[in-house]
Amino acid sequence: MSCQVAVLGAGAFGTALAQAAAHAGHRVRIWSIEERVLAEIERSRRNSAYLPGVRLHRHVRPASSLEEAVEAASLVLVAVPSQVVRTVVRQAAPLLRPGQAVANAAKGLEEGTALRMSQVLEQELPGDLRPGIGTIAGPAIAREMARRRPTSLVAAAREPEVAGLVCRTLQNAWVRVAVSRDVIGVEVSATLKNAYAIALGLCDGLGLGANVKATLAAIALSEMAEMVVCLGGRRDTAYGLAGLGDLLATGYSPHSRNRTLGEKMGRGEDWRAFVATRTVEGVAVVETALGLARSLGLHLPVLAGLHALLFQGADPGQTVRSLLSDSPLPA
Ligand SMILES: NC(=O)c1ccc[n+]([C@@H]2O[C@H](COP(=O)([O-])OP(=O)(O)OC[C@H]3O[C@@H](n4cnc5c(N)ncnc54)[C@H](O)[C@@H]3O)[C@@H](O)[C@H]2O)c1
Repeated sequence: MSCQVAVLGAGAFGTALAQAAAHAGHRVRIWSIEERVLAEIERSRRNSAYLPGVRLHRHVRPASSLEEAVEAASLVLVAVPSQVVRTVVRQAAPLLRPGQAVANAAKGLEEGTALRMSQVLEQELPGDLRPGIGTIAGPAIAREMARRRPTSLVAAAREPEVAGLVCRTLQNAWVRVAVSRDVIGVEVSATLKNAYAIALGLCDGLGLGANVKATLAAIALSEMAEMVVCLGGRRDTAYGLAGLGDLLATGYSPHSRNRTLGEKMGRGEDWRAFVATRTVEGVAVVETALGLARSLGLHLPVLAGLHALLFQGADPGQTVRSLLSDSPLPA
């Protein structure tokens, strides 16, 4: 059955989600803070700033206000960077009605509070909307998904009907959506993979070869699983699409900013200039997640090594050598 979908954020991922939903047979209103992006979508069904080369489905229509975007939507998808999710949801909250579901696609922990994004939504949405909160994750690189390359996602929500709604909204001929009730596991995995992708890029930059990169990926994954379990999620989730799946997509994609940052570090290039000119979400994750891990009494050597590199000027080669010799190897 066709429904109305709102997408808040017309960046790479918001536009790819809008495209997926439209191709699944739904009508989409996409909203952005950037008027020129909306004007281009209206004029030519393109979003050349964020997704060049993609012609959008005719059912992806720009909304001139948040109100217009959400008013008739059964499902509202939030696709802005994690550090602005609170601001956007706070603006949208008074415009929403009971029965509308809100699913977040941003990956990260809120800086300062270390809250997961669904916790941020819970704080910002009125009580009668909280059962409708969901999360989207998985190995879904926007530029591939929008070009109809086969892609899989996870829709997680405490209420199975909400995960089911997200699934029916996005699943189409090339997008498959798995459903999960493990919101914590999906969110923590999706967040940490951005940090660990920096470590995998580091292996590329240092030219250490496939054996080292695979070893570090396995150690990173076991750290991810530790954190998931400690925060109340399921270990299995770290080994599913949101964890292992997305870690491989991000840690091996030439287009990933997180992986590229690590590669630049490993090569001895000016990675600070790279970070200064664009958002590399894994950097904030390293800082926030390490603080959270320490407060929980968790010892996560890869995360601590990344922190030493990014914030304490540690040497990349020495850091990786220490990780390989001192971290427990997952048998
Ligand atoms: N790009 C991907 O392949 C991909 C895949 C999965 C998940 N994600 C997640 O989706 C989220 C968005 O990523 P993206 O790649 O689409 O980012 P992007 O940089 O392509 O787009 C960001 C969007 O957020 C909007 N925005 C920025 N600041 C804002 C503010 N203060 N108020 C309102 N809107 C604001 C921008 O206008 C833009 O529409 C991230 O958390 C990312 O981890 C991205």
